[in-house]
Amino acid sequence: MVKLHEMILRDAHQSMLATRMRTEDMLPIADKLDQVGFFSMEVWGGATFDVCIRYLNQDPWERIRLLKKAMPNTPMQMLERAMNIVAYWNFPDDVVKKFIFLAKKNGVDYFRIFDALNDLRNMEVPMKSVKEEGGHVQACLSYTISPIHTVDYFVEKFKKLEKMGADSLCIKDMAGMISPQRAYDIIKGVKDEGVKLPIDLHSHCTSGMTGMAYQRGVEAGADILDTAISPISGGTAAPATESIAAALQGTEWETGYDLKLLIEIRKYFLGVWDKYRHLHRFNALKVDPSVTLHQVPGGMLSNLIFQLEEQGAHGKYQEILIETARVREELGYPPLVTPTSQVVGVQAVMNVLHGRYKVITKETKDYCKGMYGKPPAPIKPDILKKVLGPKWKEEVIDCRPSDLLKPMWSQRKSELKEHSEVNLTDENIMTYCIYQQVGLKFLKGQAQAEFTSEQLPLPIDHPLTRGMVKQSFPEAKQIWIETVPPDERSGPAQIPTEFEVEVDGEPFEVKVIPSGGFLVAGGAPGGALPGKPKDVEGGVKSNMQGTILSIKVKKGDKVKSGDIIATIEAMKMEQEIKSEAAGEVKDIFIKEGNSVACGDLIMQIL
Ligand code: CO
Repeated sequence: MVKLHEMILRDAHQSMLATRMRTEDMLPIADKLDQVGFFSMEVWGGATFDVCIRYLNQDPWERIRLLKKAMPNTPMQMLERAMNIVAYWNFPDDVVKKFIFLAKKNGVDYFRIFDALNDLRNMEVPMKSVKEEGGHVQACLSYTISPIHTVDYFVEKFKKLEKMGADSLCIKDMAGMISPQRAYDIIKGVKDEGVKLPIDLHSHCTSGMTGMAYQRGVEAGADILDTAISPISGGTAAPATESIAAALQGTEWETGYDLKLLIEIRKYFLGVWDKYRHLHRFNALKVDPSVTLHQVPGGMLSNLIFQLEEQGAHGKYQEILIETARVREELGYPPLVTPTSQVVGVQAVMNVLHGRYKVITKETKDYCKGMYGKPPAPIKPDILKKVLGPKWKEEVIDCRPSDLLKPMWSQRKSELKEHSEVNLTDENIMTYCIYQQVGLKFLKGQAQAEFTSEQLPLPIDHPLTRGMVKQSFPEAKQIWIETVPPDERSGPAQIPTEFEVEVDGEPFEVKVIPSGGFLVAGGAPGGALPGKPKDVEGGVKSNMQGTILSIKVKKGDKVKSGDIIATIEAMKMEQEIKSEAAGEVKDIFIKEGNSVACGDLIMQIL
């Protein structure tokens, strides 16, 4: 008998709807989901925490409490990013322990724990904490293909995870590229070594091989398969629950689930799928067997396409793919999963746009220092030298990254106390610990729920709709990735030029500029800056699209060539903007927090 792990409430909509499913979309169907008898329900963690507070104005803690109550018979599972918890950077031990305690208390039963680099040192603290709280540890290995990642590599690591106290094991094939034979060999290898723990196979349909991989997986003894109810399955998401349950009927692996019940649940989710049709991406629905060659996960690909468009370099897609593979090899073959996918992807984009390792992100530096953990293979010394400079040997750490971090909980608690309007619960303190700025905005009641398809004033595939939303909600840009394939996009048609758009009751006046750009007239942050000169003598321009994080100089300051004058966040990475000439800062055309496009004037240095 095989059991299914149901992912419709987490991984499925993270893969296909930019993680935007809301708590109110989940609760009406919870009772039926609870009747199926799933091994576990994935409901929390991954990107859901971030998206809840950033885009949906929903309390993630409340979500887990409500779901647990509505599904008392099914173990609730979360995806926990080891020392990164539900974010993209390392936290100190005290915060990780407290998080596990609170997650368990609020309703999480099973913790799927993974580390992007499969550095087991990063998994120790969260695994131990889950055991102490009486939870179930599902220890995961990130699957990837490289000369390092052999069958033996996975078998040996799984044996270690069993010794570390795991209750079940999971092959996390986040890119959907595991082949049927590879799935068979790893699972068989683990079973043959006498490992008694249940093994779960997690994959996505990206390569088109996944159904076969699941079949070979169960033949090798896989105990659990990861699936999602059909309206949000296939393509970059998991295989459909109903299909896999039907496929196993009448075999020794029969799930015993009621297909009629599953189809009823399917009907419900067709409505949810439609509610977010502005997020549908044609390419995400298709298989992309090229992943078996370039090994770049689907989610990372769509991000790269989007980032290239932002940086005005969408013609370089193929070059970037090749460069991504090269950077990955140079950095010691990290599996491409959050956050390493972003480190490798953005560095590859930088290398193609500005020359190899000419612009180096802070994250690439941190990665090379060992701040994410130990890379699977050693990083080549010439790359370390390029990234960290001639004294690279002194910069590289050998310890577990979180060993370098000071406890953080009490400090954050006292910081949050300053904001009297925030209720000082442990859950709120944790939200603030994990996402300081976004978390505080949410806790102060200043976050706004994003629109759904119904709330958009024009048809969702209208070019004007995309333009308006992009300008009104700079933070919502991510969702416009591949809404329409690039070759099907057209410029603004013959249309009116002024609109009032209402989103959640708040009116936005939007004026359309004939050049094709959009200018937000009312209230939206970070829009275009009217009245800024296009060019001046001694002008320093941004060479990328992003948000200005800090300005390091003021008017009248003298700067030398190479001085850092500002920092910019581009592609979720922090980068420095340096002065190319010596002189005096005559004028500054931007403020901290402004969005800038590639080529925008930042300041004048003469
Ligand atoms: Co996944």
